[in-house]
Amino acid sequence: MTSGTISAQIIDYDNRADPYPLYVELRKQPVRREEDGTYLVSTYYEVRSLANDPRLSNDTSNRPPGYARPGQPVASGLPPSFIFTDPPVHDRLRDTINRPFGPPHSPRFLDGLRGELAKTVTELLDAFEGKDQVDIVEDFSYPLPVTAICKVLGVPREDEPRFHVWADALASSLDPQAGEDGQEKALRARQDLGAYLTDLIETKRRHPGPGMLSALAPDMTPADLEATAVLLLVAGHETTVNAITNTTLTLLRHPDLLDRFQKDPDLAVPIIEEVLRYEPPVQFVPWTTALADIDVAGTTIPKGSPVWLMLAAANRDPRRFEDPDRFDPDRKDNEHLGFYTGIHYCFGAPLARIELHLAVPELFRRVKFSRLLEDPPPYRANAVLRGPRHLPVAIEGLTA
Ligand code: HEM
Repeated sequence: MTSGTISAQIIDYDNRADPYPLYVELRKQPVRREEDGTYLVSTYYEVRSLANDPRLSNDTSNRPPGYARPGQPVASGLPPSFIFTDPPVHDRLRDTINRPFGPPHSPRFLDGLRGELAKTVTELLDAFEGKDQVDIVEDFSYPLPVTAICKVLGVPREDEPRFHVWADALASSLDPQAGEDGQEKALRARQDLGAYLTDLIETKRRHPGPGMLSALAPDMTPADLEATAVLLLVAGHETTVNAITNTTLTLLRHPDLLDRFQKDPDLAVPIIEEVLRYEPPVQFVPWTTALADIDVAGTTIPKGSPVWLMLAAANRDPRRFEDPDRFDPDRKDNEHLGFYTGIHYCFGAPLARIELHLAVPELFRRVKFSRLLEDPPPYRANAVLRGPRHLPVAIEGLTA
């Protein structure tokens, strides 16, 4: 990546609060070659077709030397987690890991977590009592997903605070601009988390309890299970934080809609889906590689090229979505790419939707919002997992 190129501008922090004008620019050339040989694909049908194309690989070891290779077990020594693998390894791992998580084998597992997660939402909101200002990120969106993933894995509650720290360091390192410092922090977090998980997995093997670690321990090698736990923690963390925060921010920027929502809580479903289109927590997927020459929209992406699939740009492609820059929960046929598509479609989407549907309606039912205290709010550095670092809001009260 060279400074001045559009990919450099996208990851430039100055454009974090509003990258959308850059995506308009990008879509003028649906498949665009950057100076360093990276290809950016930004239009809806082209992104969707490539995400479903077996000639595009998520295994970054296929990249020529000199390009970023997230997910490779450089120093951690662990095998790549299944997001960074291709079939048949990917499908085998994903099938195994899905057994204790969702249908057809475990259709009730996630539903069984609703009660505890609802309790967490209630506790977080109770703590707003007596305050006239809160930070939606720190006080609400951030704590919920880590609690959720700890319950999914079966991590003891008292260890959750340590997971927050590790998740943070690991998620930040997915950013293409995370410097050496960020990579080192991530490596240390990964080592500490690894040591913790090795002990926990061993304990679960001897004394199984609730959660996926116990269920998977007999079927997976400790290294594969550890890599999976790390993936679930990272993938399910900042994404969901950003989804809750972006929903809050977007609603507070649209007072008419907020008013409608407070009168009709059933609007939560289309509102949340529209946020995933309009402000997707994963803005782009920068770790795919062409395994062969691929012709797309009149351009040939040569074998070996790194490819970035620009989900946030595709979600606002006017060829697919009418008036795409308008936040419109009433839009029909909102087949957004917020959770991706194809074999790497978000594994945790059902969990994320449960968390969002518990958190968002309850937040707006109980809290009487006054106004945003900073607009735009300060954003995190990460350009891929993009979202506000803080969302300070003034509030006027809390109902029971
Ligand atoms: C609103 C919240 C979320 C969003 C927007 C989101 C988005 C995405 C996207 C775009 C991908 C595709 C990435 C790629 O192929 O490279 C993905 C994959 C994945 N997500 Fe999520 N995610 C969310 C929440 C979660 C949660 C809560 C979990 C944890 C259970 C999770 C686990 C995963 C995993 C394991 C993959 C890899 C799937 C595979 O490679 O087969 N995600 N997610």
